[in-house]
Amino acid sequence: MAERANFGSKLGVVLASAGSAVGLGNIWRFPTEVGENGGAAFILIYLICVVLIGMPVMLSEFVIGRHTRSNTATAYQKLAPGTWWRVQGGMGVFVAFIIMCYYVVVSGWTLYYAYSSLVGALQYTGDDANYFSDFFDGFVSHPWLPVAFSVLFMGMVHFIIVKGVQNGIERFSKVMMPMLLLIIGVLAVCAFSLPGTSEGLSYLLKPDFSKLTASTVLSAIGQAFFSLSIAMGCLCTYASYFRKDTNLVKTAYSVCVIDTIVALMSGFIIFPAVFSVPGLDPEEGAGLVFKSLPYIFSQAFRSMPVMGYVFSLLFYLLLFLAALTSAISIHEPVTAYLHEARQMSRKKAALWVSVVCMTLGVICSLSFGVLSDLTLFGNTIFDNFDALPSVILMPLGGIIISLFTGWYLDKKLVRDEITNEGNLTFRFFKVYIFLLRWIIPVAIGLVFVNQFIGLS
Ligand code: PHE
Repeated sequence: MAERANFGSKLGVVLASAGSAVGLGNIWRFPTEVGENGGAAFILIYLICVVLIGMPVMLSEFVIGRHTRSNTATAYQKLAPGTWWRVQGGMGVFVAFIIMCYYVVVSGWTLYYAYSSLVGALQYTGDDANYFSDFFDGFVSHPWLPVAFSVLFMGMVHFIIVKGVQNGIERFSKVMMPMLLLIIGVLAVCAFSLPGTSEGLSYLLKPDFSKLTASTVLSAIGQAFFSLSIAMGCLCTYASYFRKDTNLVKTAYSVCVIDTIVALMSGFIIFPAVFSVPGLDPEEGAGLVFKSLPYIFSQAFRSMPVMGYVFSLLFYLLLFLAALTSAISIHEPVTAYLHEARQMSRKKAALWVSVVCMTLGVICSLSFGVLSDLTLFGNTIFDNFDALPSVILMPLGGIIISLFTGWYLDKKLVRDEITNEGNLTFRFFKVYIFLLRWIIPVAIGLVFVNQFIGLS
C-alpha cells in the first residue's frame, strides 16, 4: 500500500490547523456575536468555553485522527467496529460536505469585496448610510455575479486540494497564514489611530455583567465550536496527517491561542471603527461586515481617503485569506473519505466534491436572487444549509466525541496517544477526562436544547 500523506513540519501542522480554525467565524461571526451579546462579558464567557470545552474536544479529535491515521469515517470504524459510534464518522464527513456548500457562497462574497476594494468600487464619499446595504443586496441578488465569484473561489480551493497534503494544504497554509497574521497586525495598529478607539476598547474590555443571560453562555459555546472547527471531521482528518512525534497538546493549545487572538484582534479592529462613525450601532448583527463596514471605513477615514482605501483592501483580503484556509479544511475530509473509503483517485475525489458542492452552492447562492421564494421548513435554502450543521449536527457531534473519548475509548490508548507513547507528560489528563465525561456533554446538551425549544 502506498505511504499515507503526512504534514512535513511542526510549523506546517500548526499553521494548517490554525488555518482551518481562523476563518469567517473569527472575523465576521465573532464581532457580530460580541455586538449582539453585550461586549466584554460575552468575551469572558467565550474564553472560558474555549479552554474548558474547545480545547478538550479538539484534543480528542487529534487523538482519534492521529491514532487511526484514517479519514474520519474510517477512523470511528477502526476504533469502534460494529457499534453505533461509527455514525459519528459518517456524520463528520456529511457535515463538512453541507458546510462546504454554503461556506463557498459567503467566501465568494469575500473575494468579490476584496476585488471591489481593489478597483475602488467601495470608495464612497456620500452620507447615505444605506448605500452599502443596497450595494450588498444588489450584488447577492444579481443573477450570476455572486455565482461567478463562488465558482472562482471553489476553483482556488480545488487547485490547492488536488496538490495534496504537503504540497497543497501545508505549503499554501505556510504562505497564507503568516500573510493573514501580518495583515491583521497592520489593521489593528491602524485602528488605534481612529477617533473611536477608546470607546471601542472600553466596549470590548469592560464587562457589563447585567447583560449576561443564559443565551449569552449558549451563544459563546456555539461560537467556540464553529470558530475552532470542531465536531465536523476537519481537524480529525488533519490530525490523521500529523506525524508520530507531533505534540498533540501543544498543537491544540497553539491553535486555540492563535484562533482566539485573531478573533480578539478582529474585535479591536472593528469596534473602534464602529464607534468612530456617529449613529452606528455596535449591536448591528450579521450585516456588519458586508453592509456596515464599507460605510464605516469610508466615513472613518473621510479625511484620509487613501488610508480608507488601503484599510478596506487589507480587511477584505484578510477575510478572503481566512475563508480560503478554512475552506480547504472543509473540503479535505470529504475528499479523503472518497479517496480512501470509496477507492477513488484523489484527483477524482476532489473533483467530485468540488462539482457537487458547487452545484448545491449555486442553489444556495441563488436563494438570495431568483430562488428567494423557494423555502424549506420556512427558511431559504441558504439558511437551511447554514442551520442544519450548526443547529443540529455540530452540537450532537460535540457530545458524541466527548462521550466517545471520555467513556468508550480505552484510557491507555488515549493517554499513549497524547503523550506520544509516554515520551511527553500531560499533567491534566484526569481533568481532561472529567471534562469530556461530564462538563462538556451537559454544556453542549444545553445549547442543543436551547436551539430546539428556545430557552433563554
Ligand atoms: N472555523 C472556521 C471559521 O472560523 C469555520 C470552519 C467550520 C472550518 C467548520 C472548518 C470546519 O470560520
